[in-house]
Formats: sequence, C-alpha cells, structure tokens
Amino acid sequence: MPAPVSTPPRFPVYSPDAILAFQFSSWYPAFSKHSVKSTVIRPLSSSFREYLDSDGVFVPEGAEDAPVESSLSDDENSDDEEDDEERPRFSFPELDAQIRAAVAEYGAVFPKLNFSSPRDAAWILPASSPLKCMSPADVYLLLKSSDFVQHDLDPELVFDGCDPAHDPKAPVPYDLELVLRKWYPVDRARELRCFVRQETLIGISQRDPNYYDFWNESDTQQKVLAAVTSFWETHIKGKWEQTQGDYVFDFLLTRDLTRGHIIDFNPYHARTDPLLFTYDELYTLLLARPERPELRVVDSPSHPAATRNAPAHQHNMVPIEALAMSSGRDVAEFADVWQDEIRKSMTEDGAEAAPS
Ligand SMILES: Nc1ncnc2c1ncn2[C@@H]1O[C@H](COP(=O)(O)OP(=O)(O)OP(=O)(O)O)[C@@H](O)[C@H]1O
Ligand SMILES: [Mg+2]
Repeated sequence: MPAPVSTPPRFPVYSPDAILAFQFSSWYPAFSKHSVKSTVIRPLSSSFREYLDSDGVFVPEGAEDAPVESSLSDDENSDDEEDDEERPRFSFPELDAQIRAAVAEYGAVFPKLNFSSPRDAAWILPASSPLKCMSPADVYLLLKSSDFVQHDLDPELVFDGCDPAHDPKAPVPYDLELVLRKWYPVDRARELRCFVRQETLIGISQRDPNYYDFWNESDTQQKVLAAVTSFWETHIKGKWEQTQGDYVFDFLLTRDLTRGHIIDFNPYHARTDPLLFTYDELYTLLLARPERPELRVVDSPSHPAATRNAPAHQHNMVPIEALAMSSGRDVAEFADVWQDEIRKSMTEDGAEAAPS
C-alpha cells in the first residue's frame, strides 16, 4: 500500500457505521478469544430504556434475590398525589432471569451497555470488588446510578461528531444492549490504553493514575512494549478496516507481563480519555511515524496524574445507606424511610457498623 501523501486530520471523522463498530456486540465476536467471556442481551425492551431514563435510583420489582416484603406497596391512600401517579412500576422478569443465568455461569458479572460501563457508580458496591454484580438488582442499581451509561441511551450523543456528510434524516439502526461480562478481580496496575491511528500503534499509556515502582524499571518497559506490540500485530492489526485503522484499545497484561487480554475498544475521539497523553501529543507522534510506540507511565509519586487522583466521580455519590433503603420504593416512601433512619440514628448511640 503506498504511503499516505496528505497530512492526516488530528481526529478521524467516523461514519455512523464506524461508530457502531465500537459497540460491544460489533467487535466482540471477532475478538472473543482474546477478551473476557461475555453475554450480550439485545435488543432491550422499550420499557427497560424507559426505566433507565426515568428519574431517581430504584430497583424494579422482583429484581432482588431476597425480595423485601413491603407493607407499603398496597397503600392506596396517597397524600403524595403526583409522585404515585407519575412513577410507573417496572418489572423485568425475563431480563432478571437472563442476568441470573449469567451470574450462575460466570460466578459474578460486570455490566455495560453498548459502549459504556457504569464505572462512575462503582462506589455503590464494595470497594474491594468494584462493579461486581451478584444479582439483577446489583446490575440495575449500578446502571441507574451512573451518568456515564446515559450516553449510550441517546443516539444523538452516540453519533455526535459523525461525518457531517451523513444524512441526519437517514436513521442509523441503533439498539440498546446489555453486556454481562464475567467479573474477575482486575489488577488495575496492569491495565494499558493503546492508541492506534491509520493502523500505526503510536502510544501506550498506563491506565491507572497511581504510581507503581515496577513501571519505572527499564527492563519492564521494554518487555511490555514488546508484548503489546506483538499482541497487536498478531491479533488486532488489520481488523479495523471499517474505521480506517483508527481506534483505541484497552489491554490487561498477564501477571508475567508477556501477554494479555483485550478489555475494550474505543473510538479515537476526544471523549476517549487520552490518560497520560494529550491528543496534541498523540498527533505529533502520528506525524513523526515512529518505529515503535511511546510508552507513558506515572513516573513519580508526585506526577500530576497521581496527585490528582482524588476519589473518582465523587460528584455522583450519595450515601450507600440511601441507596440500600431506596430499592423498590418511590420517592415519597423513600423520603419517609430516610427521615426515620436519620431520627433513629440521632436517638441511638450511633456506633453501629454499616448495614450489610
Ligand atoms: N470483566 C471485568 N471484571 C472486573 N472488572 C472489570 C471487567 N472489565 C472491566 N473492568 C474494570 O472496569 C474498568 C472499566 O471497564 P471498561 O473499560 O470496559 O469501561 P468503559 O466504560 O468502556 O471505560 P472507558 O470510558 O474508559 O472506555 C476497567 O478499567 C477495569 O478496571
Ligand atoms: Mg471503553
């Protein structure tokens, strides 16, 4: 193939079809051997989309493994006129069953929609096992608590920035999907994000913003550069023609740092976090057409990425107790229960452990 003569644009311009190549169900079949076992449920019902779109964080009926007996559900006498009328009741027995089957098969699941995981809501489940779901209720609670997954609900956002030559009136078929991946304890220290433009691997960044000694050993860096490059050349390169070879892939190294698994593919666009690079720097690398990619790691505990590393997504946090008490209740009921709990905690000794 002759070398391209024109200067490449800073960002690729994707067609809507190219964007769809990044949704999970599009890329997974071709790369499943090198990725994490996963189940895709699609299309989802319009009432599930409605549920995700609705205000508030609450769990559909029947989604909990040990259903809570509610004395409130038959209470027809309503002082809270609008709330009761406005909030539809949701229940997804079929989807519940599919989630339970995946949990039984995998032990636990990590949920995503077409493109996004609810990683901004990871704090609602125990920190020792982030995003580990054992029941339909866990999955729904994460999705409902996440701002990030909202992106996948709205085709306007999904196709935002697409090739303007594409006729916006010609609808692109887009179906919401729920992805349930086998959950396992990911060692974040071994996660990398790799940037590819025009089928050239230009940059590799440590994904976790913490400082790790081992990343700063020169031998380790050489070994990892060789491992990622070889994996990419063997298993990925040449398989992204529909995006003209412009993509970003997330990679988890094995413990011995010689091999790895694909975690995800993302569009090469500004919404994909360039981590320890800027997109300007990546562009400079692209123009230089390096022989091998540049590897960036957090090279000191005082690196700005490491010191910026405050609790992630804290704007999105509400107390766990609030969520635990909110399941299956509407806003008015929940407010009463919440007030009660506050009153109780003010009159009690307050030294109890968190509710389990
Ligand atoms: N199967 C899994 N089990 C446990 N943890 C996982 C699993 N898959 C991913 N993770 C963790 O969750 C993080 C986010 O996952 P993923 O990259 O799939 O989400 P995303 O929404 O596509 O993220 P981004 O917006 O950065 O592209 C990963 O960095 C990894 O630490
Ligand atoms: Mg991603």
